[in-house]
Amino acid sequence: MLLKAEDGSKSYVPNQRYQRLFLQSCTITLAICLLCYTYVHLDNYNNHFYNNFTRWNVREVIVNTFGLNKSVAASQTSRERKLVLLWTPYFSEKDWLPSTHDLHCPIQECDVTSNRSLLPKSSAVILHWRNIDSDDLPRFITDDSNEIGTPLVALFNKEAPPNTPVDSLTGINQKIHLTITYRKDSDVYAPYGRIEKRTKAFTMPEFKPDRKSVCWLVSHCQTQSKREEYVEILKQYIDVEVFGKCGNHICPYEKPLDCYFWLAKQCKFYLSFENSICKDYATEKLYYALMTDMIPIVMGGDDYAKYLPPHSFINVANFSSPKNLAKYLHEVSRTQSSYLSYFKWKEKYESTFVPYWWLCDLCHTLHQTETKTSMPHPDFSSWWFGESNCAFVE
Ligand SMILES: *[C@@H]1O[C@H](CO)[C@@H](O)[C@H](O)[C@H]1NC(C)=O
Ligand SMILES: *[C@@H]1O[C@H](CO)[C@@H](O)[C@H](O)[C@H]1NC(C)=O
Ligand SMILES: *[C@@H]1O[C@H](CO)[C@@H](O)[C@H](O)[C@H]1NC(C)=O
Ligand SMILES: *[C@@H]1O[C@H](CO)[C@@H](O)[C@H](O)[C@H]1NC(C)=O
Repeated sequence: MLLKAEDGSKSYVPNQRYQRLFLQSCTITLAICLLCYTYVHLDNYNNHFYNNFTRWNVREVIVNTFGLNKSVAASQTSRERKLVLLWTPYFSEKDWLPSTHDLHCPIQECDVTSNRSLLPKSSAVILHWRNIDSDDLPRFITDDSNEIGTPLVALFNKEAPPNTPVDSLTGINQKIHLTITYRKDSDVYAPYGRIEKRTKAFTMPEFKPDRKSVCWLVSHCQTQSKREEYVEILKQYIDVEVFGKCGNHICPYEKPLDCYFWLAKQCKFYLSFENSICKDYATEKLYYALMTDMIPIVMGGDDYAKYLPPHSFINVANFSSPKNLAKYLHEVSRTQSSYLSYFKWKEKYESTFVPYWWLCDLCHTLHQTETKTSMPHPDFSSWWFGESNCAFVE
């Protein structure tokens, strides 16, 4: 193609300049198109599984204020103190509950004791499931006495149904007034952690492409969820570093949370895989990972998307195979904007580990409940074992 100078002059110099300009703009246009295509392509790829990360905003997350509602606390003025008796230890700990004062509960008029001679003065007795001994129950339970003033029986449990011995319920299945578990339909909801409005300043983590890919800290090698089999397949498609008893790396710290922060310095993703797949069962594996600069990959029976901020985790349930999950993880870890989009929720929210905050809620409940007329659950066992929807992997 011959380009003519506009003034029709025969000089070759301007023509050559136009030619060069034309070629240059072609190259630039082509480059822009290529960039756009790559961007849109990646974007679509992500949208296939999750919402637009470029447009992503934290929707209003339901911040659970269990036990911490100050307006409830202010609405009542004088309250008599209620006594909570720890009938069993928690594993080997005798005095295992902090006080309502230490927990900064809005309602602090509850005392906790493990002194059994204070039973007649107690409003509630707490039995920790794993420590229940059928031969060592309070008399008023075994005697079936429903005298005025007998305390409410509260059952505390953190384990999923496959790890709650059914034998322990002998003699108490129809005597439990209050359930204190991670199940959201418990009388007193006791989650492992929760998402709160952020109070501290937030700094986006650094994007470091050279970090290890997927890390996993694990001490139970054979589980009911068969997570170990999933990980074996996943390993064929992406690097998975296993720490702890079931792996070949050791965490130098004793406290699990310290390990999580240590891992976060070297890993991009963390496998928050539960050992049982049961309704609402999400443990510290999730809340710890959400505290760090790793993206949690969850496997469990909880309805994560319902209460965790969008784009704060990756769920294996959204991928048809470990291979497809690995493919997505490779994409996310290659692209800075994609990787960092998983931390955007932290500008407004944070994960906290809150063992025992349920005491605040229990205290509130005890102040609202008329002990004398309270009826126990008719069949605790069928609620727990029948409605936990645990998946039994073959
Ligand atoms: C993603 O963003 C595009 C505009 O960039 C918009 O048209 C589309 O509806 C968004 N998709 C979702 C799922 O929000
Ligand atoms: C606190 O409790 C009051 C009364 O039950 C309720 O109206 C209010 O919405 C609660 N506040 C929060 C933040 O949950
Ligand atoms: C338990 O309470 C009783 C009655 O108040 C008291 O006499 C006893 O010393 C207490 N025991 C312990 C170990 O504190
Ligand atoms: C991911 O999987 C969960 C559980 O199967 C489902 O509820 C959710 O809608 C899925 N999300 C997407 C974006 O596909």
